[in-house]
Amino acid sequence: MLLRERLRPYVERADRALSRLLSEHASSPFAHPLMEFVSGGKRVRPVLLYLSHEACGGGAEPDPDPAAAAVELIHTASLIHDDLIDGDRVRRGRLAFHVRFGTDLAVLISDFVLSLVLDVAAGYADPRIARALARTTRVMSEGEAEEARIRARGEQISFKTYLRILERKTASLFSASAELGAIIARAEDRVVSGMAEFGRLVGMAYQLRDDLLDFGKPGEISALVEAKPVGPIGAASEDFASRAVGLLESLVLPSEARDLLRELALYATRWEG
Ligand code: FPP
Ligand code: MG
Repeated sequence: MLLRERLRPYVERADRALSRLLSEHASSPFAHPLMEFVSGGKRVRPVLLYLSHEACGGGAEPDPDPAAAAVELIHTASLIHDDLIDGDRVRRGRLAFHVRFGTDLAVLISDFVLSLVLDVAAGYADPRIARALARTTRVMSEGEAEEARIRARGEQISFKTYLRILERKTASLFSASAELGAIIARAEDRVVSGMAEFGRLVGMAYQLRDDLLDFGKPGEISALVEAKPVGPIGAASEDFASRAVGLLESLVLPSEARDLLRELALYATRWEG
C-alpha cells in the first residue's frame, strides 16, 4: 500500500483534532480563515507526533490530539508569517494568507494561535509539554530572524551556518512533535530525548529536500551558501534520513508505527513538494 494510504488514518485524526480545537472558538474572526488555510495540508508534524506516541506504546490517556493540533497550528502560523516576510503571494497553489485575508489578520493570527497553544499546554499535567512547545516557538522565530537578517544583507554563509538555520526554523518543530508524542506516551527519558533527535533528523532531511527543489530560485537562503552546494544539499538530506532510521531502531521495538516512522524519514528525501 502507498505510504499516503497508510498514513491516511493519522492525517484524518489530525484533521479532526484541529476542527475540534478551532470549533471551540467558532465565533472568533480567526477560526474560519485558519480552517480554510489549513485545509489540504500534509499534516506531517501531527502525524509524526501520533506515530511517535504509538511507537512508544502510548494509550488513550493523556490524549495526544490537543498537542497534535497545537503543532499544526504553530506550523500554520509560521507559514503565514514566512509568506509575509518572503513577500510570497501564493502558497500550495492558493493565495497566501495575507493576500487572501489581509496583513492585519496575518499578523494577529499568531497572537490567536499563541493563546490556543498556551491553553493546550495548560491541559496537560506534564510541564515538559509546555516547555517543548515554548522552546520550539522561540527557536523557530530566532532561526527565521537569522535567515531574514542574512538575506537582507546578501551575506555569504558557510554550509554549517546554513544547516544551523534549517535546524532552528524547521527541524525544531519536527523534533518537538516527535518528542511530544513520546512524552505523552510516558516513555522513559532516554526514549523521549531519542525521539526528539529522530524528529530533528527527519526535519533536516525534509527541509534540505525542500531547498533542493527550490534551488537556484531568487531569494532562497541556499543561494547564499558558499560554493553553490546543490550536491551537498542532496547528500545531506539522505544522510540525515539514514541517521534517523538507524536511531529509530535503537529506540523502540518493531511495530506498524515504527515502520511508518521509518518510511516517513525516507520519504523526506524524495518528496516532490
Ligand atoms: C519556511 O521556510 C518557514 C519556516 C519553516 C519557519 C518560519 C518561522 C517563523 C516565521 C517564526 C516562527 C513563527 C511562529 C508564528 C511560531 P521557507 O521560506 O524556506 O519555505 P517555503 O518554501 O515553504 O516558504
Ligand atoms: Mg518562504
